[in-house]
Amino acid sequence: MKYSTITKDSFEQHAVKPNIQDYHKMYREFSWDKISNDLSWFDKEHINIAHVAIDAHLETDRRNKKALVWESKKGKVEEYTFLELSRLSNKFANVLVKELGVQKGDRVFFFLERVPEIFIAILGTLKAGAVIGPLFSAFGPDAVKDRLADSEAKVLITSPALKKKIIEILPELPALQKVMLVNREKAPVDPDDLLYEKMMSNASDSFDTIKTHKEDYAIIHYTSGTTGKPKGAVHVHGAVVGHYTTAKYVLDLHADDIYWCTADPGWVTGTSYGMFGPWSNGVTQVVYEGGFSAKYWYGFLQRMKVTVWYTAPTAIRMLMKSGDELPNEYCFDTLRYMCSVGEPLNPEAVVWGEKIFGKAFHDNWWQTETGAIMIANYPILDVNPGSMGKPFPGIEPTILDDDYNELPPGKEGNLALKPGWPSMFRTYWKNDAIYQSRFKNGWYITGDKAKRDENGYFWFMSRADDVINTAGHLVGPFEVESVLIEHPAVGEAGVIGKPDPIVMEVVKAFVSLKDGYEQSEELKHDIQKFVKKRLSSAASPREIEFLPTLPKTRSGKIMRRLLKAKELGLPLGDTSTIDDD
Ligand code: PRX
Repeated sequence: MKYSTITKDSFEQHAVKPNIQDYHKMYREFSWDKISNDLSWFDKEHINIAHVAIDAHLETDRRNKKALVWESKKGKVEEYTFLELSRLSNKFANVLVKELGVQKGDRVFFFLERVPEIFIAILGTLKAGAVIGPLFSAFGPDAVKDRLADSEAKVLITSPALKKKIIEILPELPALQKVMLVNREKAPVDPDDLLYEKMMSNASDSFDTIKTHKEDYAIIHYTSGTTGKPKGAVHVHGAVVGHYTTAKYVLDLHADDIYWCTADPGWVTGTSYGMFGPWSNGVTQVVYEGGFSAKYWYGFLQRMKVTVWYTAPTAIRMLMKSGDELPNEYCFDTLRYMCSVGEPLNPEAVVWGEKIFGKAFHDNWWQTETGAIMIANYPILDVNPGSMGKPFPGIEPTILDDDYNELPPGKEGNLALKPGWPSMFRTYWKNDAIYQSRFKNGWYITGDKAKRDENGYFWFMSRADDVINTAGHLVGPFEVESVLIEHPAVGEAGVIGKPDPIVMEVVKAFVSLKDGYEQSEELKHDIQKFVKKRLSSAASPREIEFLPTLPKTRSGKIMRRLLKAKELGLPLGDTSTIDDD
């Protein structure tokens, strides 16, 4: 990513500087334990995310405040107060416990469109003490199967359309006992299908939330690595302490805000900041069911009177691409604060935001594993365009060399964090060895390369591994390669991320064909469709290049590094001694 020469001066006039006193007080008195005690419920050891997010407001004047305003793709609006979400999630918890026999610690997964039921069901599952596993609704059957099999999910909440997509994998999941359908569209269903609507209508709306310890497992989010299948990052109920605090002080949420997080509930941003962060602060959030559309998004910002907006660099670059005329047709008077996460936010996008909305996008950095924002251009700081910002209080990042020694400012190295904040993942599900391998010399190694400047701002450089970041979705090259070689024509496959001006990287596959197959455009499309159907459209190679054979190490491992160097026109180095990494 090229950083331009824009200075931060032009941003100072627009940097939002609310509640400076509050911020200073927060800094002086910062203590995770104190916040944890404030959010805990009948003693300081017990926290339940759903209680903090919803039920804690019932004794306050927020009881009948709107918690969720949802707009369907067709423009239908539904509103839910904190009280309504509490009652509905109680019903769902009763369905799980009384009808489906779900017990504390069982895994309940969600493969559902962005509809109100996903929020209700997630809250109900947390109240029941079970562990939630949200899945992106654009996943194909292989992606869903890997995650359900690894987590040994007992219950899956889905819809008739999505069930159809994964029907063939269901018999291959021995731990999966129940599949429940949310049937908004009133699609034809089998007589023995469990229906959300029916089960909810019979359930009581009072439920005693399970008294979860703050260290009890609450959430599994799967994330892709360089090798192997996706790994389930496990978070505990105490993580809400991080969601609450960062939503308050980084996203700057206040009681009267109307907040819009554009992330899908299937990803970590969609839970930490599309549910728990805003609701634990008692804030109204608006949700649009559909995906990206410049026209629709501008209209939604205006129509919903959004005040705080949390989005992602790819979306911002797509808005930029749709031109500067379109936003002139809308009014963004209510919008006071904008944040971005998931990929590097190029300074040009910050400048563009200022031109269109009159304020800068505030970039921040975190990961599935960190559970909450770690580094941010938060409100009382001057936005430093192109930088991820400074560490949040209680967070200690550093830059390490490859022997895990700390580097001084100005030096690029491995971004690492001192472990110990509440929303940090506690393990990779059934994969503790890999979890342990992420810690070196007392630091958590994030897998990103970055540097720190003399003023304490952190700058993202690149990933340290082969993971591809396409439109904010992490794609593991191994997962794509594994699916590619299942295509009947593919002999070998190597997958890399190719830089792209809009989505940061696209998936590019190098493929050698089996004997008897001829390369053609038609075959390329067929292979792309094959991956899209099995994994997801993000994982499907945007480009495929046929090669007679792929470069390999002595032991036969495909050299992605070499493929990438070739693609970028970088020196290939001495390849004669290439061996396994
Ligand atoms: O490489 C970094 C990139 O996204 C990764 C985390 O992705 P994921 O686990 O899917 O978490 C999503 C929640 C944010 C990071 O390791 N990344 C995230 N934020 C930024 C970023 N890269 C540059 N700048 C950022 N602000």
